Amino acid sequence: MTDHLLDPVEVHLPDDHAARALAKDAREGLAADPKSLPPKWFYDARGSELFEEITRLPEYYPTRAEREILAQRAPEIAAVTGAHTLVELGSGSSEKTRLLLDALRAAGTLAHIVALDVSDSALREATTALAEEYAGIRVSGVVGDFTEHLGLLPGEPPRLVAFLGGTIGNFLPAERAEFLTAIRGVLKPGEWLLLGTDLVKDERTLVQAYDDARGVTAEFNRNVLHVLNRELDADFDPDDFAHVAVWDSEQEWIEMRLRARREITATISALGLEVGFAEGEEMRTEISAKFRRDGVAVELSDAGFTLERWWTDTAGRFALSLARAD
Ligand code: SAH
Ligand code: TRP
Repeated sequence: MTDHLLDPVEVHLPDDHAARALAKDAREGLAADPKSLPPKWFYDARGSELFEEITRLPEYYPTRAEREILAQRAPEIAAVTGAHTLVELGSGSSEKTRLLLDALRAAGTLAHIVALDVSDSALREATTALAEEYAGIRVSGVVGDFTEHLGLLPGEPPRLVAFLGGTIGNFLPAERAEFLTAIRGVLKPGEWLLLGTDLVKDERTLVQAYDDARGVTAEFNRNVLHVLNRELDADFDPDDFAHVAVWDSEQEWIEMRLRARREITATISALGLEVGFAEGEEMRTEISAKFRRDGVAVELSDAGFTLERWWTDTAGRFALSLARAD
């Protein structure tokens, strides 16, 4: 093993980060009306595995659509950006990212790969594999929260920041603007953002992508209850909650919820808290916003980027935007 090629994974989250940040989010979210929890809590080791399983489901088209675009456009992305460092946010398994890395390596510009994810297990697995596959290229892994730790990212310009998978859709609109502005803030003029966005389409296709026949997405959604049980010593029975995915045509987002199948009182021991759910009460666990070209261009421009390229898959389901920092 060529140790010098793999920087140690930098952990920017203290050991008790999960417990402390989750405690705050749970305290606020479970007291709110309607109840809600932020989506980053899906991704413990089991959550990351379930997400990988989602990406292979017949109903979940975004991963395949984005991969199709990357396979076709990676050489052009490499040529246009000439990136020295590829920074991937919310990298997960970095599976599709290899298409970009291969093109950048072939173009002869790639020197450094930086991956950031909140999921320690997914990040370690991915960076270990990348260091082996991309011998001679520096690989850094950062365990952190992309809403807090962008300032800590290593890497020399010109950098290409990749934010794939439609994860941008998991922010509320105001958070999205804040996030894009924060990315712009760590880049120098002329550096690049590659953004994956799922597109508005017919309701049936969208809902099925978030409510698959085998129930993998339902299991993924309920995983947040397993995380609460483990991290905060709670006593939720995940089977008491039904998975709900609905299309909000006004906001143009899919909303994921957990619906209490009966009246429930749960104890969250670490918070000294009792939480009551009426029968049928729903807790929001995630939104996944869907986009249109004009909206993406405006949001990028508002954050200080110029949209230089816009590509979709052949079926027009998903888009990749290549934007340059002004
Ligand atoms: N980029 C991959 C994975 C997308 S799933 C793909 O396209 O398939 C979303 C990823 O973002 C998960 O790996 C999850 O662990 C990570 N993530 C979610 N919220 C995060 C946060 N606040 N900070 C850092 N990573 C986060
Ligand atoms: N970023 C992914 C998306 O919005 C995450 C995701 C896919 C997800 N399926 C999910 C999150 C189901 C919660 C529940 O497509």
